[in-house]
Amino acid sequence: MGNFIKVVVFSLVVIWLYVVFSANYIPPITPAPPPKEEVLDLSEMTMDDFLALGEKIYDGKGTCTLCHNPVMKRAPLLERTAVVAKERLKDPRYRGKAKTVKEYLYESLVDPSAYVAKGYGVTGTNDTVSPMPDVSKGAIGLNEVELWAVVAYMQKLAGVDITVEIPRGEAVAATEEKKEEKEEPARTPQAVLEKYGCSACHKMTEEGMDPGLGPDLSKIGAKRDKEYLRRAIVDPNAEITEGFSPMMPDTYKDQMTAGELELLVEYMAGQK
Ligand code: HEC
Ligand code: HEC
Repeated sequence: MGNFIKVVVFSLVVIWLYVVFSANYIPPITPAPPPKEEVLDLSEMTMDDFLALGEKIYDGKGTCTLCHNPVMKRAPLLERTAVVAKERLKDPRYRGKAKTVKEYLYESLVDPSAYVAKGYGVTGTNDTVSPMPDVSKGAIGLNEVELWAVVAYMQKLAGVDITVEIPRGEAVAATEEKKEEKEEPARTPQAVLEKYGCSACHKMTEEGMDPGLGPDLSKIGAKRDKEYLRRAIVDPNAEITEGFSPMMPDTYKDQMTAGELELLVEYMAGQK
């Protein structure tokens, strides 16, 4: 009998510790807020404003912390990346064009496979293909100014000198162009998948690679009906697929047109 009580008390202590631990130490994964077109007045922006912008994108719209966080272990932590960047540039496995730390960080955002951190590559590619999406494209779609703000913020995180300059002139013009091209709705299922970066997390076709972050969707139509698929996109946290963490962005409902959503649902329902 004594043992039974001990087991009960022990279990309660474990449960209590878990509750306290999870409430205090596991950082909540906050979904990115729907993207708002911000008016950036760069002429008046100070370095502090610029860093604050970088931090906001990093935690929000950039969805960086979805993967780069200490819980998921799906991606390296970025606190020291601006420090180790110098070594990355000398690594024989480095295939990019960057010469400086800030260029390396920028390139990591738009061409993640230029250097793939050891052990983090897409399964089966021997660390030559990064599972990270190009964050200047698709649903994240950071513009030139936002990309540099995130780079500056990563330098701040690492406590190194901030060598990024606040972009003016040309970069701002590129930002304006980008805004226009983003408004065009996608017209084919493939274009929708690309625009919203689904294959950064999901294997979408039989031949496609499996990034392993979300369930394999190459035969999803055999398992799920259209209603389920629609809900899985507009409200991903309604049901969490067994064996996976709830890390799918829940912002698609605000970003997709109804037509894009239906193209996707039709397409996935036909994948058998
Ligand atoms: C879907 C998951 C995912 C998202 C979202 C993501 N990353 Fe990554 N990132 C990774 C993985 C995995 C790696 C490691 C593989 C590699 O080196 O490319 C990586 C690598 C990096 C690197 C290079 C690290 C190194 O050690 O050289 C940087 C810098 C980086 N990410 C920054 C960001 C920033 C900033 C954001 C947000 C704008 C972001 N990432 C969003 C998954 C992600
Ligand atoms: C950052 C990674 C990520 C991105 C990007 C992402 N997903 Fe997911 N998705 C997940 C994860 C993780 C799950 C499983 C957990 C859950 O159900 O929320 C999931 C679940 C799903 C499911 C349910 C599968 C099942 O069998 O229950 C569907 C359907 C789906 N995603 C479609 C999409 C589509 C379409 C896109 C692009 C518009 C997309 N996902 C983008 C990570 C992602």
